[in-house]
Amino acid sequence: MYFKRKFPNSRLRRMRLNSNIRNLISEFELSTNDLIQPLFIKEGLSGTEPIESMPGICRHGEDSILSEIEALLEHDINTVALFPVIEQSKKNSKGDEALNSSNLMCQTVSEIKKRFPEIILISDVALDPYTDHGHDGLLINNYVDNDETLNILKQQSLTLAQAGSDIIAPSDMMDGRIGFIRKALDEMDYKNTILLSYAAKYNSKFYGPFRDAVNSASSLGKSSKATYQMSPKNKNEAIHEVAMDINEGADIVMVKPGMPYLDIISNIKDTFKIPTFAYQVSGEYSMLKLAIDKGWLDSDVMLESLYSFKRAGADAILTYAAKEISKEITNK
Ligand code: PBG
Repeated sequence: MYFKRKFPNSRLRRMRLNSNIRNLISEFELSTNDLIQPLFIKEGLSGTEPIESMPGICRHGEDSILSEIEALLEHDINTVALFPVIEQSKKNSKGDEALNSSNLMCQTVSEIKKRFPEIILISDVALDPYTDHGHDGLLINNYVDNDETLNILKQQSLTLAQAGSDIIAPSDMMDGRIGFIRKALDEMDYKNTILLSYAAKYNSKFYGPFRDAVNSASSLGKSSKATYQMSPKNKNEAIHEVAMDINEGADIVMVKPGMPYLDIISNIKDTFKIPTFAYQVSGEYSMLKLAIDKGWLDSDVMLESLYSFKRAGADAILTYAAKEISKEITNK
């Protein structure tokens, strides 16, 4: 069929003549509905604090987070993912602070919801911001114990749902967590709390700047997350992970990181046809942003990188560039 197209009967450049024609035939668009802004909140901070390894991104104090949300809503960004940076003294080996129903996350979630009930809040469920060893779960004999961790994640999810989170996002890659959390939420009548599973999360070095941002890098030291996060060498395993999470009740599945794993996003969307998100993680953002700031790359590369997610099949994208990009897409 189309591979029989021949010059000069076919001139594909005809459809690239000017921007109106190009727009008429464009197959994918990016809108602010596709963008989710991750935000860092830091305990005890007033105002903002820059994150050195993430140019243009900062940690927010409890006051500045509200004005940031207001600005995002003005830019039509209606969904944010929150990540806490808690005081070092509150971290311990079991991550107990995660279960404190008046901890930084719970307080921030309820404050935001009080002022801006329409914003969609995604709360991460994992212990790494709360443990002094930097792992996402409980360490028993130097191994992150799956089943012991589940009980804690369940409690953490309930406190976050109670505080007003719309979406609970388990990001720790423990087996069985989606089913466990779904059951607990339903029992407490949080039937409409959405579960976004970080279903295919790879053991990636692209998370480096995020670990600086939440101060977990130093706690983790040389220790790796390879016994729970996926190996970058695997593809079929991602399908198994996603299938398990869908069967356990995930409403949305996510692939992370993004650009180095576009094949996985595409495969998952084609196979399961359920809401699929992608996370353009800290390292991906910083690479592009630094090169843009240096003048080595044009700032349009950010937008271009986001189109790749749409082509791969992502329904929405978590990206640190969400706010910045929202200003651009409205003028394109
Ligand atoms: C862990 C978590 C990580 C990110 C979000 N939640 C990474 C990790 O340390 O394993 C990374 C996000 C990013 O790099 O932007 N619970």
